Amino acid sequence: MHYFFKYILTFLLLSYVEGRGVNGGFSCAACTIVSGIADQLAQIHNETLLAASLRLCKMLPSGVENYCIDAVKILEPILVNPKLSEVFTPDAFCYSINICYLDPGRDYCHLFPKPQRNFRNNIQDIKNLVVASYVGSGLNHNGFHRHLKQIAFDLCHIPGIRELCEMFDRSWARIQPAVDADGDLFSIVRAARGSFWRGQDCHDWDKNSYPGRQPLKSDAMFDSNCNGIWGIDDKTGKPWEDLLCKDFESRGVIYIGDSVGAHFHFPEPWINPLLISEETLHNYTQPLLDELDWPHLGFATGFMNTTEPLLIKGVTDSLYLKLRARNRCNHRDYQNLSRNGASSFDGMTYVKSLSRESITGQTCSCLIWHVWQ
Ligand SMILES: *[C@@H]1O[C@H](CO)[C@@H](O)[C@H](O)[C@H]1NC(C)=O
Ligand SMILES: *[C@@H]1O[C@H](CO)[C@@H](O)[C@H](O)[C@H]1NC(C)=O
Ligand SMILES: *[C@@H]1O[C@H](CO)[C@@H](O)[C@H](O)[C@H]1NC(C)=O
Ligand SMILES: *[C@@H]1O[C@H](CO)[C@@H](O)[C@H](O)[C@H]1NC(C)=O
Repeated sequence: MHYFFKYILTFLLLSYVEGRGVNGGFSCAACTIVSGIADQLAQIHNETLLAASLRLCKMLPSGVENYCIDAVKILEPILVNPKLSEVFTPDAFCYSINICYLDPGRDYCHLFPKPQRNFRNNIQDIKNLVVASYVGSGLNHNGFHRHLKQIAFDLCHIPGIRELCEMFDRSWARIQPAVDADGDLFSIVRAARGSFWRGQDCHDWDKNSYPGRQPLKSDAMFDSNCNGIWGIDDKTGKPWEDLLCKDFESRGVIYIGDSVGAHFHFPEPWINPLLISEETLHNYTQPLLDELDWPHLGFATGFMNTTEPLLIKGVTDSLYLKLRARNRCNHRDYQNLSRNGASSFDGMTYVKSLSRESITGQTCSCLIWHVWQ
C-alpha cells in the first residue's frame, strides 16, 4: 500500500501548483479524486468518511502525515455529520468547500457521474450541511477555508517536497524541462518536460550539444546533435555525419498544440479503489510529472511502446518514427510543446520555448505541426 499513499501525496501536491484550468483547475480535480477515493475506501471498509480519510493520512510519510491529519481535522465537523453520506458526491463536495468553483460562462465540471438530483441543489445541500456543521465549532465557513489554504501553502515548504513543487512549477509554467543542467532545453531525465517531450540530451553538461542542432564541425570529434552519428570514416577520411546526413534532408518534428493527440489519459486503476494495487501505482510519479500526458506514445512525437500496459494500452506509431525510419540522421529530433487545454494564443508563448538555431540564417530543417481543438 506504500505506493498508494505516495500517489495520494503527489495529488495533494499537484493541487497546490497553480495549474491552468477553469472552475478550480487541478486543485478541483485533485480534490475530487482524493475525496472520491476516500469515499470509496469508506464503502469498502464500511467506515465513516472521517475514518477513511484518516486511514489515508496515517500511511503518509511522517511530517506530511501531520499536515494531512490537520486538514482532515478542519473538515472533521462535516465528515462526522451523519447526514453527509445522504448527499455526498465527490464533485459536489469539492464545489461546496469552494475548491471547485464556477467560472463565469462555464458549466459545472464533474469527474464522476452526475447525481440524479439537480447538481446545483446537491451542492447547496452540502453547503448547508457545512454551515450547519460548523455552527458552534468556533470556525466559520470562511475561517475553515483559510485554514485549508494555509496548510496547502505550508506543504510546499516542507524540505524535500519544496523541490518537487519547484519542479512542477518550472515544467508547468514554462513548459521547459524541469531538469536541464546546461540550459539548452534538452534533458536526460524523461519526465517533467524532459526526454519524453524532446529528444534526449546526449551531453547535459554542454549547451552546444543537443538533438536537432546543425552539427558542429560535422561532428568529427563528438556528437553535437545527439543522433548517434559522429567520428571520421577511416577509408575516406571524411566525417560520418557529412557522409551519411549532409545531403539527405534530415527533418525533425516539432509539435505545438493541446491534448488533441488524445494522449491525455487518466488510468482507471488509479481512481477505482477496487483496481488500485501496488502494481498499478508503482510508476505513478512519471505520468504525474508529465501532467497525465503520454507524449512518448503520441501520434507525432511518440517513440516507444507502452511499458505500462496496466495503465495505458496500444501500439505506438508516429510522425517522428516515420521520419526516423526514413532517415536515421533524424534520431532524437523531436519536440512536443503541447499543453492540455492550450489555445492558439498560448502557442505564441510556447514557441519561445522552442529550441532551434536561428543565428545560422538557415531555415528550420523540421516539420512544425500546430493543432488546436
Ligand atoms: C457496517 O457497519 C455497521 C456499524 O458500524 C454495521 O451495522 C453494518 O452491519 C456493517 N455493514 C457491513 C456490510 O458489514
Ligand atoms: C504532445 O503532448 C500533448 C500533451 O501536452 C499530448 O496530449 C499529445 O498527445 C502529444 N502529441 C503528440 C503528437 O505526441
Ligand atoms: C511496438 O510494437 C509493435 C508490435 O509489437 C512493433 O511492430 C513496433 O515496432 C513497436 N514500436 C516501437 C517504437 O518499439
Ligand atoms: C515501471 O516502469 C518501468 C520502466 O518504464 C517498467 O519496466 C516497469 O515494468 C513498470 N512497472 C510496472 C509495475 O508497470
